[in-house]
Amino acid sequence: MWGQPPATSARGRRRSIDTAATVLVLALLLAGCGVLPGSGIAAPEFGNPLRIPELLEGSVSGDGRRSFDLDVTERQFDFGQGGPSSTIGINSNYLGPTLRMTRGDTVNMNVQNSLQELTTLHWHGMHVPARADGGPHQLIDPGDTWSPSWTIDQAPATLWYHSHPHGETAQQVYRGAAGMLLIEDPNQGDLGLPDEYGVDDVPVIVQDKSFTSDGQQIVDPEGTASTGFLGDTIVVNGTYGPVFDVTTQKIRLRLLNASNARVYNFGFDDDREFEMIAGDGGYLDAPLRTDRVQLSPAERAEIVVTVRPGEEVQLTSYPPDLGVNPSRYGTGTVGVLQLRARETLAPSADIAEELPQDPPLSPSDAAGTRRFRISGLAINGRPMQMNRIDDTVTVDDIEIWEIANRDPQPHNFHVHDVQFRILDIDGEPPGPALSGPKDTVYVPPQRTVRILLQFSDYTDPQWPYMYHCHLLWHEDLGIMGQFVVVRPGQSADPQALHNHT
Ligand code: C2O
Ligand code: CU
Repeated sequence: MWGQPPATSARGRRRSIDTAATVLVLALLLAGCGVLPGSGIAAPEFGNPLRIPELLEGSVSGDGRRSFDLDVTERQFDFGQGGPSSTIGINSNYLGPTLRMTRGDTVNMNVQNSLQELTTLHWHGMHVPARADGGPHQLIDPGDTWSPSWTIDQAPATLWYHSHPHGETAQQVYRGAAGMLLIEDPNQGDLGLPDEYGVDDVPVIVQDKSFTSDGQQIVDPEGTASTGFLGDTIVVNGTYGPVFDVTTQKIRLRLLNASNARVYNFGFDDDREFEMIAGDGGYLDAPLRTDRVQLSPAERAEIVVTVRPGEEVQLTSYPPDLGVNPSRYGTGTVGVLQLRARETLAPSADIAEELPQDPPLSPSDAAGTRRFRISGLAINGRPMQMNRIDDTVTVDDIEIWEIANRDPQPHNFHVHDVQFRILDIDGEPPGPALSGPKDTVYVPPQRTVRILLQFSDYTDPQWPYMYHCHLLWHEDLGIMGQFVVVRPGQSADPQALHNHT
């Protein structure tokens, strides 16, 4: 499977995790040269201008809807690793445009599938009707266009979108079927945040890849770690060895871990502090002064960093705290993105001391607790099944979800449609970096995370949303379940699901 999408289905590729092979390959990696010990990652040579995905704000039609046209296509893109690679691009040769929308907009997405295989586009972190969610039930046949519509109603945030066909998500996202999605709210007034896209407000989509000697990206979603694929080369927005030309005193980086399995612990190579202003689904209640922010796959953070004229500083990933010996899951210290400041920098505003919040939920209002036990590639003993609804949730109920990782290895947990709050991790309240709106949470081995959430507005007894581990190989293997949101007294009606199992 070198450089080519796997020909067999994920079901055919499923097999148990081979620990002996993992250990062997790791030993070989450690013995090899050109990689940092314990990281399996090569130190990049910085020198390539950071690619900035095109900003797409859609076109507003007569009825006031904002329409976005997205074309998911097989492409060629040169990662600078010895020649062009086959990729998936969305309106581009690799990844997709950054979509920008405003709270209150009614959007119309036209997603054309120009691939030779089934795909979907899921709006990760979006509050959206289940039919418009773009999960595994909204498959788009090759040649077809899918056109969901909904009204944006959630706090400003850095979301993303990516393909989500069951069993094929890991390989498609890796090949490039993903992009960033920004939500804005002009009614919040001026918070002093850098907001000029591509100038002082910069998408940072971080992925690890491996390449053949002639530059093809190696598509191997299963990889050699039990958590899935770990690459030996970091790219940002597709750029290897990226350099960003900083022209302002402050720069806002929208960090997205779009990797299959790797967890990053971001900081700077001189350990400078920065302000973390937002997590997955919106602002923290105040800027958090810190020198590290850890992101597992699908998590986001917005940070604002101050630079000095003429300096060079590297966004770097340090060994993550995984709650388990990280050496088997990708560790080490590696440069990610170089910021190169001009000799003269345009002044930047001061950031507001408090950041606006949607009204928080209270755990004392919770109707009950729903429990999810992750172990052995299943949730509550059941691997994902397309024609089974696992949970039925009543709209507007506030619930506590308790997610227990009973495995010796890392997982994380993502819930569609909603931003939740983390109540506690093994009984301890989350730190400030994890206290904002979240849609994905890291769940360390043998630990339990409790989250508080509420599904509102949309009900549909037939079409489910997903919850799952966002380590993409785990998700493909079936660490995923389906829930419907219904009106009080209504029950799930999974009839519609039987057409496409
Ligand atoms: Cu980012 Cu169900 O996915
Ligand atoms: Cu997992």
